[in-house]
Amino acid sequence: MQRGRFITFEGGEGAGKSTQAKALALRLEGAGIATLVTREPGGTALGEDIRALILKDRPQDPVTELLLFAAARAEHMTGVIRPALDDGTWVISDRFIDSTRVYQGKLYGLERDFIGQLERYTVGADLPDLTLILDLPASEGLHRAASRGTLSRYDAERIETHETLRQGFLEIAEAEPGRCILIDGHLPVASVEAAVWQAVSDRLLSMVL
Ligand SMILES: Nc1ncnc2c1ncn2[C@@H]1O[C@H](COP(=O)(O)OP(=O)(O)OP(=O)(O)O)[C@@H](O)[C@H]1O
Ligand SMILES: [Mg+2]
Repeated sequence: MQRGRFITFEGGEGAGKSTQAKALALRLEGAGIATLVTREPGGTALGEDIRALILKDRPQDPVTELLLFAAARAEHMTGVIRPALDDGTWVISDRFIDSTRVYQGKLYGLERDFIGQLERYTVGADLPDLTLILDLPASEGLHRAASRGTLSRYDAERIETHETLRQGFLEIAEAEPGRCILIDGHLPVASVEAAVWQAVSDRLLSMVL
């Protein structure tokens, strides 16, 4: 059996990650491909508990947050993502390593090498086959998240902070063009969906269908 493919969605608050993750899963299922949508932090019972814990009592030290996210990721990889891929299921994760690099690395200034080591221990060789980075001006993303009525803790941070995050995602897209594709998240939902499908078709489907 062919191993499944691993796709991640990244980008700032309100960029459309969750919307597009669901839409892509529907399309893949429609093409006869078993697909699993999951998210980080979270993805397992323990991981969801860790997510809730962090949202409830935000750690004072960014290292704490990084290690909790890494713990959740190790469980996610071992308990959910690797078994699904081994089974031939395609996995779509709503946020993954790039969010850690950008939030804990670029924003909170934790060392790239330290983050990289945790990545190697948790993810190892199972890096995403494709990462879709949804790009949107910070103000637009925050506006969307606010009108959705589910402002998370991060959403309350300043627009400036979110522009820093956006730059972080843009830098990753530029540095790793073999894994990442930048998608204009400003377009209407259906247009973003079409761009995502195009990227998946070009990079992954041409090899399996
Ligand atoms: N292309 C789009 N144009 C306009 N509105 C959109 C678009 N994509 C998503 N939205 C809306 O914007 C809001 C945020 O979208 P979504 O929840 O998918 O973003 P997200 O990246 O998952 O955000 P978060 O980081 O907060 O989880 C939702 O209300 C959604 O319906
Ligand atoms: Mg979301």
